[in-house]
Amino acid sequence: MIYSRISGTGSYLPERILTNLELEKMVDTTDEWIRSRTGIERRHIAAEGETTVDLAERAARRALEAAGMAPEDVDFIAFGTTTPDLVFPNCAVLLQRRLGCFGGPAFSVETACAGFMYALSIADKYVRCGESKRALVIGAETLSRITDWNDRGTAVLFADGAGAVVLEPSEAPGVLSTHLHADGRYHEMLYCASGVSKGFASKLAIIMAGKEVFKIAVTKLGAVVDETLAANGLERSAIDWLVPHQANIRIVQATASKLDLPLERVIVTVQDHGNTSAASVPLALDVGVRDGRIKRGELLLLEAFGGGFTWGSALVRY
Ligand code: ACO
Repeated sequence: MIYSRISGTGSYLPERILTNLELEKMVDTTDEWIRSRTGIERRHIAAEGETTVDLAERAARRALEAAGMAPEDVDFIAFGTTTPDLVFPNCAVLLQRRLGCFGGPAFSVETACAGFMYALSIADKYVRCGESKRALVIGAETLSRITDWNDRGTAVLFADGAGAVVLEPSEAPGVLSTHLHADGRYHEMLYCASGVSKGFASKLAIIMAGKEVFKIAVTKLGAVVDETLAANGLERSAIDWLVPHQANIRIVQATASKLDLPLERVIVTVQDHGNTSAASVPLALDVGVRDGRIKRGELLLLEAFGGGFTWGSALVRY
């Protein structure tokens, strides 16, 4: 049996750091409120003119270097984002051109914060069935471009960044299972009220019913964690690391407690990164790998939840 295995990870954050103290001067909020309700202390914001693909390219090159793979050898790109550079070509094609790896499939997946989980799941299938030998999976966002900087309910949450993984075929287990879900009945609880076909609103903005999103995120993530363990016949104690979507430290804590995992076994980056949507999970993964906490052979549970609602998980033998 052939598995897809993560052979390299990479990430990139824009240089500009926006602190809670700076946000206090922009909207009616306090550092104390943001820290206690979300866990966020600072976040990175793209420079003017810096695009989602700019961030993704840096993350991708780092992941390829870690995998020991030449950029031109990539044969498949799955790119999770809700903040693409252009309507078309899609971000994966723009990235393909920069990396110089022509001919293979390159597409983006638009499932909000679950974008990387969807992209990973699709790429995993292609590697397993032998149609891709060197797949690049990206989660990258410039959410600052669709944030209403006058809305304290969302301005304190969202941020920019990119993460990437390289998947290659392996006889030893890598990605063990992926689990994707969506429920369109929740559309109005978290969305961006602009679009090409619907027309652009006077200002781009994320609209969110925070409290409701919070409750449903905790419930759905708890369920998908159970589903993932059951599908693999595993007990909670088998998980070495939880690598969660970094939306809110309280949601992360709830999922960790569902797994009986102490926070020391959870990769938490929300304090430094904020909510980078599709970039959040691969960013956290790369942090855990590069600082030496996540080691080869360990069992990782990745999960994310976002607008739609869309959500998903992956069980990965790293
Ligand atoms: N600073 C100060 N006060 C604030 C701020 C702020 N930045 N934002 C809201 N408040 C106020 C509210 O107005 C409210 O005041 P009131 O009691 O006088 O009415 C009070 O704080 C409490 O507001 P709540 O919304 O009840 O606060 P809550 O504890 O629920 O925290 C939060 C809000 C952080 C948004 C939380 O609900 C949350 O994290 N929700 C989930 C977000 C998420 O997971 N999104 C999913 C993925 S995102 C994606 O897909 C793109």
